[in-house]
Amino acid sequence: MELPGKVLDVGCGSGRNSLFFARMGYEVDAIDVVNVLNKEHKEHGLIKFYETLARDFDLKNEHYLAIVATRFLQFVCPRTVESLFKDWHKALKPGGYLTLSFVVSNSSIKGSKRYDVPYYYHSPEKVIRLAENMGFGVLAKKYVNKKPSDINRVRKKLIDSFEVIFVKK
Ligand SMILES: C[S@@+](CC[C@H](N)C(=O)[O-])C[C@H]1O[C@@H](n2cnc3c(N)ncnc32)[C@H](O)[C@@H]1O
Repeated sequence: MELPGKVLDVGCGSGRNSLFFARMGYEVDAIDVVNVLNKEHKEHGLIKFYETLARDFDLKNEHYLAIVATRFLQFVCPRTVESLFKDWHKALKPGGYLTLSFVVSNSSIKGSKRYDVPYYYHSPEKVIRLAENMGFGVLAKKYVNKKPSDINRVRKKLIDSFEVIFVKK
């Protein structure tokens, strides 16, 4: 049986997105700088995990149907975003999708106290402009004002984020 194709999950974390795509029958390359992918997900026959920085991952041309990077962009500086977009554009098949979500600059979560890496607040407009300059088109976009979760309610914080789906033109 031929599988529907390959998906790259960047900054996969515990692997919820990787598992979603694997369950749909996609082969998934899951990458993260920290090895926190759930053991059961790692053992899923369709998920391959690579412990690496996103910018160091070796990408083949026109290899993926989709690249997914949710809650990820805030961990990389603008210059890296630019080079990742360039690499991801090459790595996608024509008509392939790039799906992103990231914390935006008007979020009330500020600073990098809980993280030992810098936290960047990219403007959605700049991210879109950059992606369009690389040859992506916007398919869908949405601001999300998340209701405070239990943890965030204690800290009275709201997380504003932005979700966007690009298509390779
Ligand atoms: C907030 S978690 C999101 C996890 C997953 N994408 C999700 O939505 O559930 C961000 C993940 O990105 C990873 N990460 C941060 N910077 C990275 C980088 N430069 N290269 C690869 N992974 C990175 C972190 O280790 C973390 O697992």
